[in-house]
This record gives sequence, C-alpha cells and structure tokens, in this order.
Amino acid sequence: VQPRSIAILGGTGRQGRGLAQRLASAGYRIVVGSRNPTQAAESVRAWRVSDRVSVATYVDAVARADRVILALPFDAIAATLERLRGTFTRGLVIDVSVPVVFEAGQAALARVPEGSAAEHVRARLPPEVAVAAAFKTIPAHVLDEVDRPLDCDEFVCGDSGDARAAAVELVEAIAGLRAIDVGPLSRARSIEHLTLLAIGINRRHKSQDARFRIVGL
Ligand SMILES: NC(=O)c1ccc[n+]([C@@H]2O[C@H](COP(=O)([O-])OP(=O)(O)OC[C@H]3O[C@@H](n4cnc5c(N)ncnc54)[C@H](OP(=O)(O)O)[C@@H]3O)[C@@H](O)[C@H]2O)c1
Repeated sequence: VQPRSIAILGGTGRQGRGLAQRLASAGYRIVVGSRNPTQAAESVRAWRVSDRVSVATYVDAVARADRVILALPFDAIAATLERLRGTFTRGLVIDVSVPVVFEAGQAALARVPEGSAAEHVRARLPPEVAVAAAFKTIPAHVLDEVDRPLDCDEFVCGDSGDARAAAVELVEAIAGLRAIDVGPLSRARSIEHLTLLAIGINRRHKSQDARFRIVGL
C-alpha cells in the first residue's frame, strides 16, 4: 500500500519549503498547498526533489493527505481554517506556527486566548482530527539550506500519544533532527516561548542560527 501524502499548507514559504524538501528527500510524497498553485509550482520546479512534490490548492492538498503540516503565519490560521471548514475530517494536523509580533522593535508573543498557537489550531478543527505541534524552534533558513546537516532537537507535543508518535516520526525522518516528546498540546506554550528566546539570543549574539539541544536524556 502506498503511503498517503503529507500536505504542507504554505509549503513554499520560508519554513514550509525547507520542511517540504527535507521530507521529500526522506522519501515522503509531499503536496504543497498554496493559495496560488501556479506560482508555487514555479518555485517547486527549482527543488532537487521536485519529482516527489506536487502542488495543489489548500482544499485539494488536505483532501489528498492524512497528515497536514500548517506552515502558515499565525495571523492567517483562523481565516484559513474557517475557509477550509468541512475539509478536515480525520488524520493529523501538525502546527509549526509561533505567534511572534514585533512591538517597538522587540519580539514578543501575541496574546492568544487559547494559550498557544497550537491550541488556537485545536480550537478550530473537529475532534476527529488530531493536532500536534513540531518544527517550531528550528530556524527556517537552517532548514532551507537543504544540504546542511542538522544537529538539534525539535520539541513535539500533541493531544494524544498517537498524534505525538506520528509527529515524532516526521521529525526523525529528517536526518540530524531528534524529536523530544514533551507531552500534551498545552506544552506548545513553552515551545513557542523557546522560539521567542531563540530570537532574543540571536539578536544579542548577532547570529541567526540559535536552536536547541537537550542533554541528560
Ligand atoms: N521563519 C522561521 O524561522 C520560523 C521558524 C519556526 C516557525 N515558523 C513559523 O512558520 C510559519 C510560517 O512562517 P514563514 O516564515 O515560513 O512565513 P512565510 O514565508 O510568510 O510563508 C508562509 C506561507 O503561508 C501562506 N499564507 C497563507 N495565508 C497567508 C497570509 N494571509 N499571508 C501570508 N502568507 C500566507 C503563503 O503561501 P501561499 O501564498 O503559497 O499560500 C506563505 O508562503 C509561521 O507561523 C512561523 O511562526 C517560522
């Protein structure tokens, strides 16, 4: 049986395109979901693994996959999931978003009533769809340098053991990434704060590469 595809909504954006190419290199079939599939197909043609990547509208990408990565700006999520209402009926959604805002030149997290971006996603999907969070702390440009070996950990949380296991499988399919299961979806609050911390570390140390590795496990 051929495994179903992984859809990546916003898959040609900064975070999405590194993920798409690295997961395609790991052997997965990827459907990039785009608001403008013609333009997205143009971007994908330049990718080395483009034969394992197809492009579709968001609706068609979701219909063709049982795992959907949301690589969208946080403030586009509510409207996008509202437009896609009825399209998600099963499977797993993995949120990578971080609600970072810049206020007077300082990065901060937007106040999210649900507690985190991942819980904001959870609140907008039917209960039959599992939700996990991953790929929130790795910088886009590090992922996007597809020949650069990775060397860090990615935190995974989710609303069930099965959701976390499926997200862990995707993280660990990418060479050099180790998944750290941190438990329930509400832990996304801490993960999103770590991304904010990395942004602050980068600014202070004039880097763009800060990322995380847990010792002691
Ligand atoms: N950049 C990083 O280092 C990084 C690290 C960790 C997590 N993240 C998270 O990853 C998510 C995506 O970030 P990114 O840096 O990849 O953003 P990006 O480059 O702007 O890409 C996001 C993609 O989302 C789609 N999209 C859908 N609705 C949109 C809207 N209203 N406005 C703009 N784009 C829209 C676009 O694809 P189509 O036009 O093809 O539909 C776009 O290419 C964010 O939530 C961010 O917090 C980013």
